[in-house]
Amino acid sequence: MPSDRTLREVAESRGFDVGAAVDADSLRRDASYRTRLAEEFSALTPENALKMGPLRPTPDTYDFRDADAIVNFGRANDTTVRGHALVWHNQTPDWFQSWDYTDDQLRTFLREHVHTVVGRYRRTVDAWDVVNEAVADDGTMRETVWYDAMGEAYVDRAFEWANEVNPDADLYYNDYGADAVNGKSDAVYDLLDRLLDRGVPVDGVGLQLHALGEWPDPASIAENVRRFQELGLDVQITEMDVAFPAGEAPDDALERQAEYYRDVVDVCLETGVDTLVTWGVRDADSWLRSFRDFSERFTGDPLLFDDRNRPKPAYRAVSEALSE
Ligand code: G3I
Repeated sequence: MPSDRTLREVAESRGFDVGAAVDADSLRRDASYRTRLAEEFSALTPENALKMGPLRPTPDTYDFRDADAIVNFGRANDTTVRGHALVWHNQTPDWFQSWDYTDDQLRTFLREHVHTVVGRYRRTVDAWDVVNEAVADDGTMRETVWYDAMGEAYVDRAFEWANEVNPDADLYYNDYGADAVNGKSDAVYDLLDRLLDRGVPVDGVGLQLHALGEWPDPASIAENVRRFQELGLDVQITEMDVAFPAGEAPDDALERQAEYYRDVVDVCLETGVDTLVTWGVRDADSWLRSFRDFSERFTGDPLLFDDRNRPKPAYRAVSEALSE
């Protein structure tokens, strides 16, 4: 029976955070988008605004306008704010391509970047994806500008630098394709185990859970979550969306999608995961519609609200699962 309470009210009544990735332009332009965000979600993640590329238009300058707008919206609506992502191989500044840096210069740049960004949002960002996607799909450490210059230690340093500036923030390692027990999540597990052995201040792991085409098995997600928890880590679902292979959506696609969202919420409740963020508010905002060839490969309606901002069966499924 659909609840007359908003998803946020249902979630908050049991200490659970349901969140959404936020696009700065939609937030600025669209009142109905802002209303949905404030009323239905108790957590938010800036989708792009806190990434290094958007923040660093030139080597010596920062552009915090979009990030400030999103973070301030979160504060104004008493919403948990997750910062994403301090160190990543994608969306590095365009000028990086022509920068002839030494390893030391890159290290100094990264430290200054982490200190400055975490410092600016010391009182307003609750959690950070400090390092994103450092493990390659074959389980090795991903070859990135950071890894090439500093080896695996760039991960350690990034967490230490963030912790130096804000020891109260929750610091996460975030990745995709490591949601269930598999070769990649084994490698992520081993990395986190090494970091903890080295005394690196990691508080948790973010499982992105982009269920695209092949949807990770909920029982295996639960097993994966538990093993990270046994390391003493918190676990969050940080970027969930659910899509079928393009052209293969069954007649009952929306019901199947709703069922999967429900199954994942059940896994969260079973295992004590208290935060699930969807990677966007409405289907129309989804990265799947514009990113590379993903719109040819997957269906473009992966979220809880449709193009016209109306709740979908998936929305009701998440609300009901949290009401039980
Ligand atoms: O802002 C520029 C705009 O000025 C320019 O006109 C336009 C055309 O080139 O590009 C705009 O930047 C785009 C940006 O999204 C903002 O819309 C970038 O090209 C585009 O690559 C970027 O895509 C983002 C993608 O990360 C980049 O890798 C997606 O929105 C975002 O949803 C996606 O999010 C990632 C997470 O951070 C990490 N996990 C996977 C997830 C999905 O790929």
